Amino acid sequence: MRNKKLLHAVTGAFGYAGRYIATRLLNDGHQVITLTNSPRRPHPFGNRVPAFPLAFDDAAHLEASLAGVEVLYNTYWVRFNHHQFSHREAEKNTAILFSAAKKAGVKRIVHISITNPREDSPLEYFSGKARTERLLLESGVGYAILRPAVLFGGEDILINNIAWALRRFPVFPLFGDSQAYGLQPIHVEDLASLAVREGDSRENTLLDAIGPETFTYRSLVETIARGIRRWRLLVNVPPGLAYALGRVLGIFVRDTFITREEICGLMAGLLQVKARPAGHIRLSAWVVQNRETLGRRYASELARRLNRDVSYGNECCSPEGSMAA
Ligand SMILES: NC(=O)c1ccc[n+]([C@@H]2O[C@H](COP(=O)([O-])OP(=O)(O)OC[C@H]3O[C@@H](n4cnc5c(N)ncnc54)[C@H](OP(=O)(O)O)[C@@H]3O)[C@@H](O)[C@H]2O)c1
Repeated sequence: MRNKKLLHAVTGAFGYAGRYIATRLLNDGHQVITLTNSPRRPHPFGNRVPAFPLAFDDAAHLEASLAGVEVLYNTYWVRFNHHQFSHREAEKNTAILFSAAKKAGVKRIVHISITNPREDSPLEYFSGKARTERLLLESGVGYAILRPAVLFGGEDILINNIAWALRRFPVFPLFGDSQAYGLQPIHVEDLASLAVREGDSRENTLLDAIGPETFTYRSLVETIARGIRRWRLLVNVPPGLAYALGRVLGIFVRDTFITREEICGLMAGLLQVKARPAGHIRLSAWVVQNRETLGRRYASELARRLNRDVSYGNECCSPEGSMAA
């Protein structure tokens, strides 16, 4: 039987941020279930995290899965538009999830969003996140909204793939004036700690979940290059050219390496806020500590989506050839 007081639900606990949140909850002695699209993805939890489907087409099922849950930690979103998934669909699904949670009597939702969401943003990632935040604020369920800019640590994609490219190529193209815009990465364990702390609270909160260091895009790439000891030529190029190069690279790695939207969001400064750091793990130190492994393998967003039986971090290790550098 589930213990009502202690039951927490985490979306995507076999994925990235959700896995760290679930780990922390279990370590704190809570019971955890997950709602996931990938119930067969390998994970470290044994039978301690029962999996239920993210059944957006069956709200009653979703509601039943959430029965007795005290806090829902929602990590669900999609990174970009693709013929199999879209921001619009993610927005609609998130509304279904929030509604099911409310009907199930969930007391609190800890929702992972993004820095600088705005409903009138031309970038769907940011406008969709802003609308889902509003839905939650208006839902009547207690909430904590955490807004990270970029995650690093463990199985992250962006920082890992910058390192991967630095390991492979002598020249690294930067988008436009790469000193003019910045980003504030937070370690995934810091984000998980914040999420669990906010799950315990009863205050409604909206928090920029940024790490202790602010980088310009150039200084971020320099920091990673220095950390993994790769001395590369970093060249500012027109963003359109960098995007085109990313597209070509994407063909080779069978992934969407970077999208136009991501470049626009980054260059518009949307991954930077004026706020006090909420995490304490420094990316610059973490890169050095992880220099032997960081970027050795390409981390593929599409592989994660299309092959749901493989754990994050191993998505490129198919027998027919890994993309190790
Ligand atoms: N990663 C970052 O650098 C970053 C930066 C800023 C904000 N965020 C936000 O932080 C949250 C967690 O990010 P994460 O990187 O940790 O995500 P993740 O673990 O890869 O995915 C989180 C959840 O969303 C589902 N999901 C992801 N992409 C999907 C797709 N295309 N179609 C269907 N389901 C999909 C996953 O499905 P499964 O159940 O199959 O695993 C999982 O349940 C997200 O809301 C994201 O917007 C992340």
